[in-house]
Amino acid sequence: MSSHVTLTLNPAFRVAPVRRRTFGAFVEHLGRCVYTGIHEPGHPSADADGFRTDVLELTRELGVSSVRYPGGNFVSGYRWEDGVGPVDERPARHDLAWHSSDPNTVGLDEFMTWARKAGVEPMYAVNLGTRGVQEALDVLEYANAPAGTHLSDQRVANTGASESHDIRLWCLGNEMDGPWQIGHKNAEEYARVATETARAMRMEDPDLELIACGSSNAQMETFAAWENTVLTEAYDVVDMISAHVYYSEKDGDQASFLASADDMDYFIDSVVATADHVRAKLKRDKRIMISFDEWNVWYQHRAESRPPSGDDWPVAPVLLEDIYSAMDAVVFGNLLISLLRHSDRVASASLAQLVNVIAPIMTEPGGRAWKQSTFHPFALTSRFAKGEVLQVTVEAPTFENQRFGTSASADAVATWDEESGDLALFVVNRDASGTLELGVDLGAFGDLELVEALTLHHEDPYAANSADAPDTVAPQPNSSVALDGGRLTGELPSISWTLVRLARATS
Ligand code: AHR
Repeated sequence: MSSHVTLTLNPAFRVAPVRRRTFGAFVEHLGRCVYTGIHEPGHPSADADGFRTDVLELTRELGVSSVRYPGGNFVSGYRWEDGVGPVDERPARHDLAWHSSDPNTVGLDEFMTWARKAGVEPMYAVNLGTRGVQEALDVLEYANAPAGTHLSDQRVANTGASESHDIRLWCLGNEMDGPWQIGHKNAEEYARVATETARAMRMEDPDLELIACGSSNAQMETFAAWENTVLTEAYDVVDMISAHVYYSEKDGDQASFLASADDMDYFIDSVVATADHVRAKLKRDKRIMISFDEWNVWYQHRAESRPPSGDDWPVAPVLLEDIYSAMDAVVFGNLLISLLRHSDRVASASLAQLVNVIAPIMTEPGGRAWKQSTFHPFALTSRFAKGEVLQVTVEAPTFENQRFGTSASADAVATWDEESGDLALFVVNRDASGTLELGVDLGAFGDLELVEALTLHHEDPYAANSADAPDTVAPQPNSSVALDGGRLTGELPSISWTLVRLARATS
């Protein structure tokens, strides 16, 4: 059975320019993200620095703009100086967050080399769990200060280059609201250390972009009160507040999972409301933006998410290696729609993570690299979202689900590049009950032509890719999509993600 979905869009309904930083990712010292993920000396594709060029190529194809490093929970027990200097003199350490061992063969300088090769902007997190203001200043001096200071001279000696790393984006700790975090703090304690760290870092460089920790998700007991307390103290010295969220199908409740983006919308709107409440209270002009620096689908209850225990402290264990289905990719694509639609306040976002660990790119040690289903909506959105984000009104049937009650069967966002005349429409059918007949009046855009329509869908929503069958779930041309006299029509199969590309007509 099919029903109808009508989308209304107009070039005048602008949200904000598409921000490249929406397409960030995350590399944490966790499982096989760094070791045998981005870095594997001895791998057939490894370059002279030990970086896997197959992963570098896939990272570029994914269209990643910025990469957060080195954690995550890992950073809250990390000594940055363990990871610099001659590799054979670096100490191996226990990583308490993931009950693993880290040989520290990759650290800040290697990450910066990798980031340059991948063409991504670095985003560096400082440890405010076991450490504080001084260590944050030290790593800032090491990374950014011009040659001539104690630590910047060490960087020059270690890298053999005089240029500073010039890292602009800095996270002030990670998930400090979470009781699982090493050095967990209450809101007042964190507000103090984050404010003082930010103030001191700005004495070194007033133009840094600083991100305070927000909540680990909107269900945290302290959610909103945490943001209120932290921003009330740190408002003048930070630019962004972070948000993190992970979704999964729980207890067979497929319908709620498919509607996950409703929660992301609610989360973003609530953080914006809280930040603007503090703005009004403090009578400031400046607006605090959101760094959505961890988001994804993550099956946290599965065995692969359980860290080793006891005397077992392995290097680069298999951890959080979720295999994503077609349905996961549809939810994932919908989360990107939510992030784009909030481009007026979400200034930066980081998909957690990039390789092997809840990742769009998977590798075999010594072997192949392959794309998960989630690779595709990310790569296509990053590549074709250009110009201005447009608000899209969706008139669609609804479906019932336990978590949200009632959700719209479809969700969509569009981008319009007035200069080039490129229009991209991103739309999901997130209803398991059947096909949706799409109808969109594009008359307001002038004469357009259809460039292509791609749909990610699989008859079995639980179908997934593997190293042996890497193309099981991938977007296919959707031949039902047509443009006739400014009216776009087509079929959106149940549980599907679709990109429709149009361009100003040339004749
Ligand atoms: O991305 C995996 C983990 O999720 C990160 O280390 C932590 O910040 C979050 O809880």
